[in-house]
Amino acid sequence: MALIDLPVVDPHQPAVSTVSDTPVTSTGGRVYVETYGCQMNVSDSEIVLGVLHQSGYQRAESIEDADVVLLNTCAIRDNAEKKIHERLRHLNFFKNKRENMVIGVLGCMAERLRADLLEKEVVDLVVGPDEYRRVPELVAGAQGGSKGIAVKLSRVETYDDIEPLRTEGISAWVSIMRGCDKFCTFCVVPFTRGRERSRSLPLITDELRRLWDNGFKEVTLLGQNVDSYHDEITNADFADLLIASAKAVPEMRIRYTTSHPQDMSDKVIEAMAEYDNICKYIHLPFQSGSNRILELMNRTYTVDRYMDRINKIKSTMPSCALSTDVIAGFCTETEEDHQATMDLMKEVRFDGAYMFAYSPRENTKAWKMGDDVPDDVKNRRLNEIIAQQNQISAEINQSEIGSTHHVLVEGPSKRNASEWKGRSDTNKTVIFPHDDVRGYVVGDVVPVRITRSTSATLFGELV
Ligand code: SAH
Ligand code: SF4
Ligand code: F3S
Repeated sequence: MALIDLPVVDPHQPAVSTVSDTPVTSTGGRVYVETYGCQMNVSDSEIVLGVLHQSGYQRAESIEDADVVLLNTCAIRDNAEKKIHERLRHLNFFKNKRENMVIGVLGCMAERLRADLLEKEVVDLVVGPDEYRRVPELVAGAQGGSKGIAVKLSRVETYDDIEPLRTEGISAWVSIMRGCDKFCTFCVVPFTRGRERSRSLPLITDELRRLWDNGFKEVTLLGQNVDSYHDEITNADFADLLIASAKAVPEMRIRYTTSHPQDMSDKVIEAMAEYDNICKYIHLPFQSGSNRILELMNRTYTVDRYMDRINKIKSTMPSCALSTDVIAGFCTETEEDHQATMDLMKEVRFDGAYMFAYSPRENTKAWKMGDDVPDDVKNRRLNEIIAQQNQISAEINQSEIGSTHHVLVEGPSKRNASEWKGRSDTNKTVIFPHDDVRGYVVGDVVPVRITRSTSATLFGELV
C-alpha cells in the first residue's frame, strides 16, 4: 500500500482542531467500539465509552446492534493500518444497508492520517487520542449529517474526571500517564499521542481502591514508559507510585507496562521485590542486540546497560519472569547485528517476546534513513528470532513442571469448558481441570501444580 501524504506534524505544536459548525444535540443511540493496538487503546476505549455514556449513549454488544461504530486504531506498523482500511471497507457494506449508521475512526491512526481519512474512506468522524471529550458532539454532528474531525494534541489532558465504562471482569487497565517523549527513531507514538504527562498519584490510588471495592482483583498500570512517571504535586516517581499502589490495595495483584531500559531504576526493582502483591513479571523491550543499531534507533542505552538491568532484576528477584520486544531488519542491520540480537536473547532467556519486522513509518527519523534490508532477509531474520525464542520459552516452561503457581482464576478455557484458565503471578497462562467440589470462582487465587507445558501455556492440577 502506498503511504498517504501526511501533513508534517511538529510534535511540540498542537495541531489545529476543526469541528463542523452545525449546532448539534445528542440524539443518543447505541455505540460499538472496536479496539486495535496496545493496552493503552483498550483503556482509552473504556474512557470513550465513559464519555459517551455521560451524554446518553448506550454500549452496543455487536455491530449489528449499533447505530454508531467506532474503530479505536493503531498506527505502529503498516500492517496495523492495512487491517483498519480493510475493516472500513467491510463496515461500508453495513452502512450501505443502514443509511443512518455512523462510522468513526479514533486513536493513533486518526491522529496520523487526519483529514485524509475523511477524504479517502467512508468515515463520518476522526478523533485523536486527546480529543475524546468531543466524541459525543462529533457523533451527534454525524447523526445530523455533518462530518467532523478533532485531532488536537494536548499537554495536559489525562481524562482524570472521566469514569471509564469498563468491561466486566476481574482485571482492569489503568493509565497512569499519556504520550511519550522518547522519540525512538522508528516510532510513531510520540507523534500520535503527543507529549508525556502523568496523572496525580492520589487520584490513581483512589481509583485502585474503587476498583477493589467493585470486585476487580488485578490491575495493570499503563504508560509507554512508566519509569518516567512523575507526579508534579507530590513529586512522586514510578517507584513511589508502585509502593503507594501496593499499600492502597494490598490484596490486589498489581502489574505494569512498559518499562524502559534507560529509565528503569533500582528503586523500582527493589519496590517490586518488597511487595508480594506486585507481580513478578517485567516487560523490558530491548529492540536490538547491537549498540550501533540501538544508537540509530535513539534508544538511549547500550547492550551493557540493558544487561545491567537484567542482572539487577535477576539478582533481586530470581523468580521474576521477563518478556521483551525486538525488531528485525532495522535500516542498515547487518548479519552481525542480527547475530548480536540472537545472542542477547540466548543470554537473557526471556520467558516470552513480541517480535516484529521493521516497518518504516512516514515522518519518523528512521523513515529518512531508508529501508534497505530486503523483505526476504528481514523475514528470514525474524523467523530465526521467533524459532529460537519459541525453543527457549518451551524449555523454560518445561522446567516449571513440578512447581506450584498461585493462579488467579479467569474462567473456563476457550477450548474445553471442563477446564479453567487463569494466570500466574509471572503472567503465564495456566490451564487446569475445573473442580466443582472445591467450588472456587472467578477471581479466586488457587494453587496449581504444573504437570505439562508448551512454549505458550502451562497445564496443571489443583493442589
Ligand atoms: N513504549 C514501548 C513500546 C510501544 S510500541 C517501548 O518503548 O518499549 C510496541 C513495540 O512495537 C515496540 O517496542 C517495538 O518493538 C515495536 N515497534 C514500534 N515501531 C515499530 C516499527 N516502525 N516497526 C516495527 N516494530 C515497531
Ligand atoms: Fe515508541 Fe520509543 Fe516511546 Fe516506546 S519509548 S512509545 S518505542 S518512542
Ligand atoms: Fe498502536 Fe498507538 Fe498503542 S500506535 S501500539 S495504539 S500507542
